[in-house]
Amino acid sequence: MQKLTYGLFFALLSILLSSCLTDETNKEIVIQDFTSEEYATLSEQLNIDRNIESISTVLPRHMRVNSSGNSSSIDARKALLGRVLFYDKQLSITGETSCASCHLQSAAFADPLAKSMGINGQETKRNSLALASTPSFETSYGSSDNFGTFVGFFWDERAQTIAAQSIETIENEIEMGHDVVALAQQLNDQEMYRILSEKAFGRNNILSSSQIVEALEVFTNSIISGSSRFDRLTDQEFFGENANDEPTWTFQEQTGRSLYLQNCASCHSADMSFPARAIANNGLDVVGDDKGKGEIDGSQFDGMFKVPFLRNIELTAPYMHDGRFATLEEVIDHYSSNIQPHANLSNELRETDGSPKRMNFTDEEKLALVAFLRSVTDDKLPFEERLSDPFKE
Ligand code: HEC
Ligand code: HEC
Repeated sequence: MQKLTYGLFFALLSILLSSCLTDETNKEIVIQDFTSEEYATLSEQLNIDRNIESISTVLPRHMRVNSSGNSSSIDARKALLGRVLFYDKQLSITGETSCASCHLQSAAFADPLAKSMGINGQETKRNSLALASTPSFETSYGSSDNFGTFVGFFWDERAQTIAAQSIETIENEIEMGHDVVALAQQLNDQEMYRILSEKAFGRNNILSSSQIVEALEVFTNSIISGSSRFDRLTDQEFFGENANDEPTWTFQEQTGRSLYLQNCASCHSADMSFPARAIANNGLDVVGDDKGKGEIDGSQFDGMFKVPFLRNIELTAPYMHDGRFATLEEVIDHYSSNIQPHANLSNELRETDGSPKRMNFTDEEKLALVAFLRSVTDDKLPFEERLSDPFKE
């Protein structure tokens, strides 16, 4: 009897051991990315895995997507370099700010401050834009809205690509004040970046300024946001699947959703993926001190700003280009009864006689709209490790 128990015990133990060993071996062969020596060097500053896991991003099926379909694979090695750069304060000339100083993961990569803090105590001109308010940059930017206007980056849509945006930001005297070419030289002298840049761009690579912005672009492109209650329920409605057991819309959310489709979707889009209008005046001011797109394109676009994406809007307060509204309730109050007249005020926000529209929502309707907007929050995103700060304190 005892013999049998021992025998069984050893049999089990050897099965257990051998499975551990195969597991280890598989890792060695298949996905181990850094040598022990490299990993030791990286670990002096970084808290990252020795293995770089592949990243593939899948968007909800209901979304309007580009020709490549709704899944794409991200170059995980470039994304890792991009992640380290994104969180590295060396990108600013004073070593004070990283991209993440103004784009916080906990706030869907927006900034809880109305105006962000740049270098030398300077404030940015506008409210930081959430980098997770799009399903993905790749699907949300780079083509035109329903009126043929190009959807670009920044509140005035002045940048066409993240690479262009990144150079502008790194070299902006308020934000980071650095020079990308000098930055590349500075980082090349560092063993950590030598290792990461060789992984991303091949042996003996010398990190260039264009590779820096490329890696930043790959990283920001890897910020995907499509896993909200709104997406699960919409997929269910479109395809009749209920794979995720999401409890269905509450009555309040349903009410909010129809109000949204009636009053908001003509600009912000019905499926929360691509703006129906790239740019508009939504009646914030009779005379504003920021001309928006008018500042770069001439006064014809005075008072016109990007129609922001509303994904994760619950996490990205304060709101509008200057962060003037602290809560979603204040935003709804604006649309309900406070739209200001302006020559460029959008037709969607005017009565038939041309005066500013009065939606006059009841208190119940206001709560319903807020409840609906909260359904577009991707709850996992603030905690996703591959997007988090890799630096040890
Ligand atoms: C000092 C604060 C600050 C820093 C540092 C900063 N940003 Fe921004 N970011 C902003 C602000 C403010 C805006 C909106 C500016 C505007 O529209 O004029 C913005 C806008 C953007 C946008 C446009 C998003 C959209 O949907 O149009 C992207 C992309 C972006 N930042 C990425 C980055 C990256 C990458 C870095 C690091 C290289 C970075 N930011 C560093 C404050 C900052
Ligand atoms: C005519 C187009 C248009 C319509 C219709 C419209 N919006 Fe907007 N919305 C905008 C523009 C443009 C902005 C940015 C304005 C700015 O900051 O100067 C904006 C900003 C917002 C913001 C702030 C986003 C952020 O990231 O700061 C929220 C929230 C919002 N709108 C919700 C709504 C809701 C809810 C409705 C319907 C009741 C609605 N919008 C109707 C054009 C529109």
